[in-house]
Amino acid sequence: MRRKVSVIGAGNVGASVAQYLAQKNLCDIVIVDIPEKEDMPKGKALDLMEAGPVDFYDITITGTFDFADIKDSEVVVVTSGLARKPGMSREDLLQANAAIIKSVSENIKKYAPNSYVIMVANPLDLMTFHAWKVTGFPTNRVFGQAGILDSIRFRTFVAMELGVSRNDVQAMVLGGHGDTMVPLPAYTTVAGIPITELIPEDRIKAISDRTRMGGGEIVKLLKTGSAYYAPARATVDMVEAVLLDRKRVLPCSSHLTGEYGLSDVYIGVPCVIGAGGVEKVFELKLSDSDLALLQKSGNTYKEHLKELGY
Ligand code: LAC
Repeated sequence: MRRKVSVIGAGNVGASVAQYLAQKNLCDIVIVDIPEKEDMPKGKALDLMEAGPVDFYDITITGTFDFADIKDSEVVVVTSGLARKPGMSREDLLQANAAIIKSVSENIKKYAPNSYVIMVANPLDLMTFHAWKVTGFPTNRVFGQAGILDSIRFRTFVAMELGVSRNDVQAMVLGGHGDTMVPLPAYTTVAGIPITELIPEDRIKAISDRTRMGGGEIVKLLKTGSAYYAPARATVDMVEAVLLDRKRVLPCSSHLTGEYGLSDVYIGVPCVIGAGGVEKVFELKLSDSDLALLQKSGNTYKEHLKELGY
């Protein structure tokens, strides 16, 4: 029997997750959306199936609005919820998406009680906490995608600045997936060379600022929604790390219990992702100013959690 991953939400992010995941030929994929979308998830699933003969995958992709179909999923990726419109912050989506995530999480708990849940819906760190609470799953099984996206944006901008391959840039962006995120130039290298030796300070600051606003930059350009290719591809790295027990070191939104001086909050930190989900959180020795920024980010989200009644 093939392994199974479900993707909740057949919008741009969900469909792109399904597409990038299909290309890995690792698992059957179920795409779920609400009954109001009628046959749309089925259409996307069939369309993706039909790309298989030329894209060299033979896994099965199905679309459904029946949550019972997610049964036996090893991983459930949650992309449902509203996306930002120009001028909105991710936190503006809080109440509307919290209601959606509550119902999705209840269904995951009911139909896929042993699954690993990867949250992609915004506001990311808050929705991940919410899903953790509603499912009641252990914290290693509920985590959020954001840090990879923020880090690959940072890598892209560094590579553009230097005119080098994006593949040779490694970066780490921590903190919440919002304006308080914390790019870490000290942990950003080009083929092992710290960027602080290659890029002047003012340009590093400009690149860090662009990264922080990276999601908003895309929203402004698209006008009708938010980014989906890079968020989806980042998510697939996390799914693959779980399915193949790759022990990838990836910045993910993870539950903290005292690391970095923060607890009872989800925030982006470097994690080891494998068959056990979040198997470990690395606690970096941050500079005092970066640590203060990370704590500020975490505390901002703790305040927002109160708006959800936590
Ligand atoms: C972004 C949204 C999807 O950062 O959060 O693009």
